[in-house]
Amino acid sequence: MSIIADRLNRISPSQTIVISTKARALKAAGRNIISLSAGEPDFRTPDNIAQAAMKAIEGGQTRYTDVAGTPELRKAVAERFRLDSGLDYTAEEVIVSTGGKQIIYNAMMATLNPGDEAIIPAPCWVSYPDIVTLAEGTPVIVPCKRENGFKLTAQELEAAITPRTKWVFLNSPCNPTGAAYSAQDLRPLCDVLLRHPHIWIFTDDIYAKLTYDGFRPATFVEVEPRLRPRTVTMNGVSKAYAMTGWRIGFSGAPIELTKAMNKLQGQSTSNTCSIAQAAAVEALTGPQDF
Ligand SMILES: Cc1ncc(COP(=O)(O)O)c(C=O)c1O
Repeated sequence: MSIIADRLNRISPSQTIVISTKARALKAAGRNIISLSAGEPDFRTPDNIAQAAMKAIEGGQTRYTDVAGTPELRKAVAERFRLDSGLDYTAEEVIVSTGGKQIIYNAMMATLNPGDEAIIPAPCWVSYPDIVTLAEGTPVIVPCKRENGFKLTAQELEAAITPRTKWVFLNSPCNPTGAAYSAQDLRPLCDVLLRHPHIWIFTDDIYAKLTYDGFRPATFVEVEPRLRPRTVTMNGVSKAYAMTGWRIGFSGAPIELTKAMNKLQGQSTSNTCSIAQAAAVEALTGPQDF
């Protein structure tokens, strides 16, 4: 009999990590490789952010923090949500995790019961279906059409909803397609979701600042505040501030869910790195011209 649990056999290894590892190995072997795997800026973390980390080490910020993150960082996150999108999350509704990935993991593990469904517009980031499956949920993949710019339409969303739907994921701008939703794009999706009050929304906005033509993606709660009580707004510093290795992601979400995610994180990783948290405060509150 295998030592490996059934739950692990349900999922596949992260393809992003498989491909990234291979690319790194080929680079180390001297090959000229451009990796199109992980979504990762190819420049260094800005100096002011790195300096803040060094200051944190020198200042002794090297101990456990609150599981959900330092009060300074949670406040900085809430303020950034407000400044960037006009969202009004309190610091208590914010949790900081080891990358945006752990936010997704926490949210799914904290909410999915066997058979609960999560709608995932595709092409999608490869980890969503596996995290849902690991949490014993059922991914419902909805292919989005090229002629719609790979954006989910209200009709496609409506058709995918069942009484077992617990979550709808939206990743805007989307990895891998780059599909990005304006307020106008989100409006019809909001209208569908208002008609189905049993559904929660997970909006992964981690690429929101990576647009190159002045386009500003909108986010659900900003477009439809009535969805706030059932939305997780996820973001992080990985992509926007070239900090993928620092492992800081965060969310704003209703207090009951944030508490549940905190409970789960308290029995797994506890707080993410205290030094990375200090660096993230500088990223979010320092100069934004980068
Ligand atoms: C769409 C999407 N969401 C979340 C993440 C995870 O980000 P993090 O590195 O902060 O865990 C990634 C990383 O590639 C991503 O592409």
